[in-house]
Amino acid sequence: MTFEERTAILNQAPTEEPARQFFFIERMKEIIAEKEAEKGRALTACVNTFGCQMNAKDSEKLIGILKQIGYQEQTSEDADFVLYNTCTVREHANVRVYGRLGVLKKYKDENPDMIIALCGCMMQEEEVVAKIKQSYRHVDLIFGTHNIYKLAELLFHRFTEETMQVEIMEKAEQTVENLPAERKFKFKCGVNIMYGCNNFCSYCIVPYVRGRERSRLPEDVLAETKRLAEDGVKEVMLLGQNVNSYAYNFPELLQKVSEIPGIEHVRFMTSHPKDLSDALIETIKNNDKISRHIHLPLQSGSSRILKEMNRHYNKEDYLALAEKIRKEIPDASITTDIIVGFPGETEEDFLDTLDVVKKVCFDSAFTFIYSKRTGTRAASMPDQVPKRVSQERLDRLLKVVAETASTRTGRLVGTVQKALVEEENSKIDGYLTARLSGNSVVHFKGPKELIGCFVNVRLNEAKGFYYIGELEE
Ligand code: SAH
Ligand code: SF4
Ligand code: F3S
Repeated sequence: MTFEERTAILNQAPTEEPARQFFFIERMKEIIAEKEAEKGRALTACVNTFGCQMNAKDSEKLIGILKQIGYQEQTSEDADFVLYNTCTVREHANVRVYGRLGVLKKYKDENPDMIIALCGCMMQEEEVVAKIKQSYRHVDLIFGTHNIYKLAELLFHRFTEETMQVEIMEKAEQTVENLPAERKFKFKCGVNIMYGCNNFCSYCIVPYVRGRERSRLPEDVLAETKRLAEDGVKEVMLLGQNVNSYAYNFPELLQKVSEIPGIEHVRFMTSHPKDLSDALIETIKNNDKISRHIHLPLQSGSSRILKEMNRHYNKEDYLALAEKIRKEIPDASITTDIIVGFPGETEEDFLDTLDVVKKVCFDSAFTFIYSKRTGTRAASMPDQVPKRVSQERLDRLLKVVAETASTRTGRLVGTVQKALVEEENSKIDGYLTARLSGNSVVHFKGPKELIGCFVNVRLNEAKGFYYIGELEE
């Protein structure tokens, strides 16, 4: 494309969204079709997602745009376009991305037209972008968490300028909705109810890379869910870093979503313990379409550490809340996230964590070794705990979590439970994997036509965090 042609196109582009993006989607369709004709084959794209449900949801939007402009999706990374949607919540996530960029370099040596792109949370950090610009020159395109909707426009620049493109926005200027999205599963889907986070837990980088909290209007959430239901979705998961601080009444939204025709089951993530309301407990209790699962990150059982973490609850508050949930909704599972080795954590603090784990008897827990994140308050705290001590605490914690989890899973053995069949079992031939309302999974023999259906399964055997069962007629 000549400079004049390019300028003419840029001058024609509408300034308002989403019209502008639809315009660039059309231009990219032409460019991809041309490349295909040149190569005599289809162009392929691979999106690799790191991190949490928010990123998974963003990737569905990114894949939607890529398919629309003509790429064929594939899972292996020897593709014409490879995009990493990155996470930076712990250092380990970053290390993995750098390692894999080395591997991508080899693919690019074989296919010089290959385009390598990076987006997501890690790209919102200045040092990361500086390092990539300097040491990973084979990367073609970098964008952040606030401009994923602009993928077609950014690609247009990459294809017509042929230089490394970097666009990071400091904060979300607007939320652009109604662009194409590609669902990973036909029958279930995540729905954002809010973006960002205002809590500034002292260890956590999410508020810095995802920006301030923004709640979507209930009518927008309901309209999106209705469209999804009409398109065959039976289960939705409402997503937010802290759904309890949703600006427009979360329990009411949950109730309304569950009433949409076609929606059979509603999940939600994540609940911050500091503001989980009685109204929410009441809503879940009275509505069996709402998942019997509350993910309630504890982080630490020590009141002193919780204060340092800026979590706004103490050990007793957490125990009282868990007890209330167990009493009001006895069939609900409670899962959690725990960090060991936060700066200044003593053996005594850690014993408080173990104590809470035993008392609450978690159904399962994600456990992490504290990872120092540049720019957060905890990064400059004294008494960083040595790796050896954290590792030893993590090992002890894992043992206790395994015990509580098997006590909890054990209680359902012999019962028949409703579950949504998600996929074929990857390990045992002829077996399917389904998810119970409480979020644990059961493997059982059955035909793959059942994928996407709710079935009744008898839970015959508990194996720690999962079950082996059989289909009930
Ligand atoms: N918004 C959610 C959590 C999002 S991050 C909440 O508040 O519960 C997911 C989990 O990663 C957190 O719950 C925490 O346990 C863990 N995490 C976050 N920052 C971390 C860090 N610096 N080191 C180790 N684990 C961390
Ligand atoms: Fe991070 Fe805390 Fe926000 Fe969760 S609530 S995303 S842990 S700052
Ligand atoms: Fe990671 Fe970003 Fe989620 S840092 S945990 S992908 S919000």
